[in-house]
Amino acid sequence: MMTKTKHHHTEQYGAERRTLTRWIAGTFAMAALAAVKPASAQAPIVIQFSHVVTAGTAKGKAALRFKELAESRTGGKVRVEIYPNSQLYKDREELDALRLGAVQMIAPSLSKLASLSGGDFEVFDLPFLFKDRVAFRAVVDGPVGTSLLKKLEPHGVKGLAFWDNGFKVFSANRPLQWIDDFKALKVRVQASKVLVTQMTTLGAQASVGPLTSVYEALRSGQLDGQENTPINIETQRLHEVQRHLTVSNHGYLAYAVIVNKPFWDKLPSDIRTALEGAMRDASTYENSIAGAENTKALERIKTSGKLTVHTATPQELEQWRTALRSVYKDAQGWISTETLTALNALNGPPP
Ligand code: LMR
Repeated sequence: MMTKTKHHHTEQYGAERRTLTRWIAGTFAMAALAAVKPASAQAPIVIQFSHVVTAGTAKGKAALRFKELAESRTGGKVRVEIYPNSQLYKDREELDALRLGAVQMIAPSLSKLASLSGGDFEVFDLPFLFKDRVAFRAVVDGPVGTSLLKKLEPHGVKGLAFWDNGFKVFSANRPLQWIDDFKALKVRVQASKVLVTQMTTLGAQASVGPLTSVYEALRSGQLDGQENTPINIETQRLHEVQRHLTVSNHGYLAYAVIVNKPFWDKLPSDIRTALEGAMRDASTYENSIAGAENTKALERIKTSGKLTVHTATPQELEQWRTALRSVYKDAQGWISTETLTALNALNGPPP
């Protein structure tokens, strides 16, 4: 039985979080249950898929597509249960839950995977790294992507696919045009040292916390700003608690779909093959809609009239780009030379 309790002592801008011990207890009970479940029509294999954004995002829609394909192609031998919008677990918790087997599948941002397997996944957070989506896909769909996913395996996690979200923009309670505008702003970033360094380099104060707490932290003034993709901003209603948004496209947000490796390895091979096919097709779908979803979300944010939208000028961006170059150097301290070199070879030298 999974018990959720509220806990008032927390590290992340006052947000409440579930007590670890309680859900770990639940986890073991569920893992034991899953292990004895036979793959018969009466008792389908259950895949619990947890994520932290809404069902209306590209990731949310692709998770549903995977469910449809997985269930129909296994003739009902597999049931996929989707838990969107941090319903079950928040950012960090879902990684722990996956490793423990309390859920079998998640799709966290690449930024969050560093906590599992070392800093190399943070390479994707380097500012102004990719000039477009095609450049991002060239990296993840080639040997760099494959070798990064391999790094997860000693941690009991298997990577199945890379899913796109898109380019991030900044929002704040003041206009952000030049670097000085960032001074002393308290800005939420995901749990990535590269992103923290990006903010401190801009003169801001980085605050790491789960997505689900950002709205309230911005509303109450505990945070001044944040960075995310338009679709995430819109679906979390962050534009309703911010006065200004700058279209900067300064970084890229994407995901890896990952599974609990012992669970995956124990699946009957015909089932696993069907699920791999379902994941391939759900991934093609996700990657085909993410760009347009973000474009549409940005348009809706602009027309909502809730905040002022500024598109960063080439001069402004040049100033940011120049200032942020030092982040590449800093990141050599925790991202392997092997990954940085392989990335440079594919993507060209740092901007
Ligand atoms: C975030 O924490 O802002 C994102 O990683 C959320 C997501 O899953 O897109």
